[in-house]
Amino acid sequence: MDCAGPRKGVVEFGCGYGIFTVPAARLVQGPIFALDIDPNMVSACAAKARESRLTNVKIEQRDFLAQGTGRPDSSVDYTMLFNILHLEHPVDLLNEAYRILVPGGKLGIIHWKHDQNAPRGPSLSIRPTPEQCRTWSEQAGFEFSRSEELCCCSWHYGLMMTKPVSR
Ligand SMILES: C[S@@+](CC[C@H](N)C(=O)[O-])C[C@H]1O[C@@H](n2cnc3c(N)ncnc32)[C@H](O)[C@@H]1O
Repeated sequence: MDCAGPRKGVVEFGCGYGIFTVPAARLVQGPIFALDIDPNMVSACAAKARESRLTNVKIEQRDFLAQGTGRPDSSVDYTMLFNILHLEHPVDLLNEAYRILVPGGKLGIIHWKHDQNAPRGPSLSIRPTPEQCRTWSEQAGFEFSRSEELCCCSWHYGLMMTKPVSR
């Protein structure tokens, strides 16, 4: 995903084990705020960041559905919603991403493809399609930038959305 360059900061909604956190932290210039509700995920992600000697990863145990991200309005330039939009209230998450992004900031979405052969992932009944993710994001105010072919993950799709500079 196109996350090179953010300087103000990045927020990752649901960092899990840090599979994306660590590579993203190597690419960005500012802090990456990695949030997860599960203390085991927080510990695992923190261990990965420590092993990689990364000092720009700020990990926090937090329920972003109940509490939001805790970041100020228009304060970061990239948000990562990777494998998370099957949760309840996806538009609430997208509204929160919109709130914290600077105008022109980017939202990266990755999710499992809507394919019953895909290994792992949530049940197909709650797995959103790219079109659904795009519609939800547009409801939150984002503009579609592009779809991403993810050469690394054939069972996943990617979307890049942008917070418009003026509305
Ligand atoms: C399917 S995993 C995806 C992890 C990571 N983004 C990835 O793609 O490898 C979803 C993560 O979101 C976290 N999560 C679920 N609901 C959450 C909430 N309300 N607040 C914070 N984290 C949450 C889970 O604990 C889990 O680690």
